[in-house]
Amino acid sequence: MNLAELNKIARAMTAPGKGLLAADESGGTIKKRFDAIGVESTEDSRRDYREMLFRSREAMSSYISGVILYDETIWQNAKDGTPLVRLIEEAGAIPGIKVDEGTQALPNCPGELITAGLDKLAERLAKYYDRGARFAKWRAVIDIGAGIPSMTAISVNAHALARYAALCQAAQIVPIVEPEVLMDGDHDIDRCVEVTQRVLNKTFQELRLQRVALEGMILKPNMAVSGKKSKTQAGVAEVAEKTVRMLKNCVPASVPGIAFLSGGQSDKDATAHLDAMNRIGGLPWALTFSYGRALQAAPQKAWSGKSDNVPVGQQAFTHRAHMNSLASKGEWTPDQEQKAL
Ligand code: 13P
Repeated sequence: MNLAELNKIARAMTAPGKGLLAADESGGTIKKRFDAIGVESTEDSRRDYREMLFRSREAMSSYISGVILYDETIWQNAKDGTPLVRLIEEAGAIPGIKVDEGTQALPNCPGELITAGLDKLAERLAKYYDRGARFAKWRAVIDIGAGIPSMTAISVNAHALARYAALCQAAQIVPIVEPEVLMDGDHDIDRCVEVTQRVLNKTFQELRLQRVALEGMILKPNMAVSGKKSKTQAGVAEVAEKTVRMLKNCVPASVPGIAFLSGGQSDKDATAHLDAMNRIGGLPWALTFSYGRALQAAPQKAWSGKSDNVPVGQQAFTHRAHMNSLASKGEWTPDQEQKAL
């Protein structure tokens, strides 16, 4: 393992003013997104949509440091035959790959999940590296509800995250370690903080146990937010303050960067929260975005599957990428949303 090189990539992924585009929706998830805009999900429509994003020159070269791809996409070519990976590299961004194989029911833990995909992972990583991937992603899912999460679910998911991260580093690929605590429940923000802290602590314990080099990884956590169904919704300042405090308690300073998931927050909330955290300042790690929905909802709607709409789709993507770039520097203001429209 060349740790200096892993560290260089991790720092490039979280470079000032830049963040990650999570475009790694599985076949089932992208179908759900396309259903919502009335587009049939086919190999070609998925290619056309993602090609539109990767050809958004301003966004890809100024605001996006890297793209998380799905297995199908990393092997796909653009309409003119250029590999999609090449489009990303030509824009100056880094290709990455989601390597987990989704979640399965966790035995003996009703309602809880374990992420699959460790078998043969070493062989798959070597192939992805040859294709150009320099980082990877693995998502563990922890739900909050009555009597959950169990220590069992937290423990086995942390173990799998660390197994994955160690295999990535051995393959000279930077692991994005993503333990996602879902925001779907009716819990308040303090319960989210309590559970997320337990999850992060266990995850870093496993990472250390399995000798993962923290300088050569990126953490992708959820923010501390109120559950979507909670009657009390924490405001921007509270989310920012509690998230920063939670991360300071749990994430070693040797981790180069933290790139948040958006997890179902509105586009504007995801941007406002990131901005407020960066305004607090004095943080040991770079804090940026690795958004899926909060970067793509607007371009998906603008595009709606029509080639005539590619320019407006690209404009919508560039706008969200720009707003989040500003937020990653603590330089976003709500009126910039209006100005750019
Ligand atoms: P969201 O920003 O839509 O949560 O997606 C990010 C991601 O990669 C989840 O695994």
